[in-house]
Amino acid sequence: MKIVSTIAEVRQQVREWRKQGLSVGLVPTMGYLHEGHASLIDASCRDNDRTVVSDFVNPMQFGPNEDLESYPRDLAHDAKLVEDHGGDLIFHPEPSEMYHEGFSSFVDMTVLTEELCGLSRPVHFRGVCTVVSKLFHIVQPDRAYFGKKDAQQLAVIRHMVDDLNMDITIVGCPIVRESDGLAKSSRNTYLNEAERQAALVLSKAIFEGMSLVKNGETDCAVILGKMKTLIEAEPLAKIDYVKIVDCATMQPIPVLDRPALCAMAVYIGKTRLIDNFFTEDL
Ligand code: PAJ
Repeated sequence: MKIVSTIAEVRQQVREWRKQGLSVGLVPTMGYLHEGHASLIDASCRDNDRTVVSDFVNPMQFGPNEDLESYPRDLAHDAKLVEDHGGDLIFHPEPSEMYHEGFSSFVDMTVLTEELCGLSRPVHFRGVCTVVSKLFHIVQPDRAYFGKKDAQQLAVIRHMVDDLNMDITIVGCPIVRESDGLAKSSRNTYLNEAERQAALVLSKAIFEGMSLVKNGETDCAVILGKMKTLIEAEPLAKIDYVKIVDCATMQPIPVLDRPALCAMAVYIGKTRLIDNFFTEDL
């Protein structure tokens, strides 16, 4: 397993692999890797001859009052995890390598980014689309792996690849959870003990929503009402949003009459956590 920090080194390595006729998978990450990331690396190693993991805290996708500075970083830990899971190359650039002076081109998207996380994080998806496009151009993978944990991000990336005719297969992977249900996230490290306990309301509400849908409830107001009541009973929790949207457009729907995504963002103290389920996965 190799770690490189320049675009030129990635290109050279991928060129060598291509000469040997090998397929390449890409797992984009912001590092501080956990088992959720590991599941994407496992999937890529299963499907491809070689796997590249990008490890880059992308400044462009953070808003002015967000956690760019405090976002956890640990390259040595990440390197061990990637190696243990069979990854072949870590791309760990400095921000200046990705955004040279005078950088002024962006990939942006309407509609799909206007609801859910896009509402409370207005510059976020422009940053995600731009950096993921750059990574796609740098690595030119056959396949790229994204977690359903960030469901809107997955939908946005699929849409971008389709809109812009990128010849890359996007693979969506299931949410990996802690044994008590909390979705794994690099941001869980921000939680103190009381908050860690309180954070369980997210997955509890998700499981409640899943069970209502499985039992045939189709009225979104009823489903959302029960989920919100559960979250509001936790004093440390503050809802950003809990919504049910059309999977294709990310626009809210009143009745479950098509493939839908039920997604939430909830503040636990100062930490904003997300969770979700797709009705099609039930
Ligand atoms: P990051 O938050 O590091 O996540 C990298 C990938 O891991 C994403 O596709 C995310 O959905 C997936 N992931 C995180 N936690 C997961 C879990 N518990 N189960 C399954 N998958 C999980 O998402 C980003 O970074 C960035 O926005 C990025 C795409 C790298 C662009 O900068």
